Amino acid sequence: MTPQERIAELTERLNYYNFQYYQNSISEIDDFLFDKLLAELTGLETQYPQYRAPDSPTQRVGGTVSKEFAQVYHRFPMLSLGNTYSEEDLVEFDNRVRKGLDGAEFEYVCELKFDGVALSMTYENGILTQGATRGDGTRGDDITNNIRTIRTVPLSVPARLNPPVLFEVRGEGFLPLTEFERINAAREDIGEALLANPRNAASGMFKKQDSAAVAKNRLDCYVYSFLSDQLIFQTHEESLTALQQWGFNVSPTWQKCADIQAVMAYIGEWESKRFTLPLGTDGIVLKVNRYDQQDQLGFTAKSPRWAIAFKYKAQAASTTLNAINYQVGRTGAVTPVAMLTPVLLAGTTVKRASLHNANEIERLGVQLHDTVFVEKGGEIIPKITGVDLTKRTGQTVPIIYPTHCPACGTELIRTEGEANVYCPNEPGCPPQRQARFEHFIQRRAMNIESLGEGKIQLLLERGLVHTPADLYDLTYEQLLGIEKVFMDEETGKKRVVSFREKTVENILTAIGKSKAQPFSNVLFAIGIRYVGNTTAERLVDYFGTVDALMDASQETLANVPDVGPRIAESAANWFADPDNRTYIERLRAAGLQLAGERKTIEAVSESLAGKTFLYTGSFQNYSREQLETEIVANGGKLLSGVTKKLNYLIVGENAGPSKVSKAETLGVQMIGENEFTAMLTV
Ligand code: IVH
Repeated sequence: MTPQERIAELTERLNYYNFQYYQNSISEIDDFLFDKLLAELTGLETQYPQYRAPDSPTQRVGGTVSKEFAQVYHRFPMLSLGNTYSEEDLVEFDNRVRKGLDGAEFEYVCELKFDGVALSMTYENGILTQGATRGDGTRGDDITNNIRTIRTVPLSVPARLNPPVLFEVRGEGFLPLTEFERINAAREDIGEALLANPRNAASGMFKKQDSAAVAKNRLDCYVYSFLSDQLIFQTHEESLTALQQWGFNVSPTWQKCADIQAVMAYIGEWESKRFTLPLGTDGIVLKVNRYDQQDQLGFTAKSPRWAIAFKYKAQAASTTLNAINYQVGRTGAVTPVAMLTPVLLAGTTVKRASLHNANEIERLGVQLHDTVFVEKGGEIIPKITGVDLTKRTGQTVPIIYPTHCPACGTELIRTEGEANVYCPNEPGCPPQRQARFEHFIQRRAMNIESLGEGKIQLLLERGLVHTPADLYDLTYEQLLGIEKVFMDEETGKKRVVSFREKTVENILTAIGKSKAQPFSNVLFAIGIRYVGNTTAERLVDYFGTVDALMDASQETLANVPDVGPRIAESAANWFADPDNRTYIERLRAAGLQLAGERKTIEAVSESLAGKTFLYTGSFQNYSREQLETEIVANGGKLLSGVTKKLNYLIVGENAGPSKVSKAETLGVQMIGENEFTAMLTV
């Protein structure tokens, strides 16, 4: 291949990866390989500049701009950072800096390199006026409303803290790992496809048009840069300290380092410690501390000369794939789990890895007994990232996806366009039955959690229950004294499950109490595929009673806010099934709530008791009326003007400047609607 051909090939390939990454939130290549290819292209272009394409990925900072949002120009371009993977490169960087500063003394600030989405927040007169994505580095998407949903991004910085009239803060928006796990568990529970990793999940959320939907996810943002024409800080360290005082979320992981040796120590320290952080990190960033020295060093076309990222090698290990376990979920989805020879990875022993679905097995081209690479990325569950073909022996066996349910033997079905394969034997398939009970008893559903996994299994085995409706017929005499010793296959440990007097009493009380759970909980509990908590609430708001819901056509269902055609079809099919109707009738006979609770202004909590509120502007999640209702229903008091008696001013979009400045003068705390929402739930 000639250099010209190779340049063309690399340009096309890297542009494609960039497009997938920035536009579709899909990472098709790991960072290490991407950077290697980019370095190769940069090298070739330096040697043969005549072959450089105008759209070469070396010529721009990031992706292209998406169409849906208004575009905003960045006051200061959003650049990227040079990457290194070796200590030698770092030493070279250090030498370049020293030379650039003519041998003057300097210090670094080290930070972690957070794996999320770059965000920019602009404050004018202390008020957050604009939030944007990086876009192509020059222009990005105006996602102000979405950024406002981040609880840790202050909507205003009080005047008493003397912020500049105009300043910009940059940071990394992210979805905390625990949130990611929680969202995926909930998605799995209702049969939704899982989110691939926290970075993609965050990127997808920030790009949603509906900021109310964005607000439901607890997105967060670590800030790491301050920009303003008013030079109020001398060093990066000073700006981080101030940002923290101004109410921004500055990760406490940064450290001032006197020299490159101290930087190396920081790198060593965080190599494994970073796995204890609430988000994924893929390296560290070192920045020259003094701003005048940063200015002296300046920028290349793409990145600052005063900062560089050091990337950790992905924590990977290789091991053997011994078997595939096919797990059957509540909605019948059959998912493959790789069973591995235990291997140590980033401080924990890994025995299993997720394989997502049949497509993933095909994509990897993996066979049984292959040596595979496992990696721990931003996720907690490790994944198989490739096959070590150099180690493939004649002993490997192609993986044949089962055609029949591994649990009950029923022939599996695959719906066009869906990655999942399903076992259709909903009523009889044991793991589906078990999972249906576990779903039914969870706190967000009927709240009978005293009845755990083992006890349910025992009740099912003894034939005391078949469907969750049977729970309501259980008697004290039936339950008392039943017992079983379970053997944990993995640990070999014994576990005794027994129904003693006190246990039985607790369970029967919880079952009795569950009859008072609101209709929306019941609707979620019955486990219609794709119907999560929120959808259940919307359906109850719309239809009011189970009878109205049962009689609704698919078209009517699709009219309900937040209910798309897929959910409408799933719900219509569910209610069309006579067995399900019988099930509903049994729940009705047992006394469960099957009619909606329309919202009234009755007191719901005392969480705002003794506090006074006023709002200004408009909000994403509340109409003015709803906001007033919430304040009053939760024990708060609504005031009519900004006075010393006011505790909180809730600031929305297009907030009244006079209210805001008066609140500032009087030192009244200003909060966003999400902070307000958070106050309701404490
Ligand atoms: S400073 C001039 N600090 O990495 C560049 N960036 O490749 C200023 N990132 O787009 C960026 N953690 O999204 C900086 N502690 C950190 C960072 C960080 C993650 C991301 C950021 C930026 C990309 C640069």
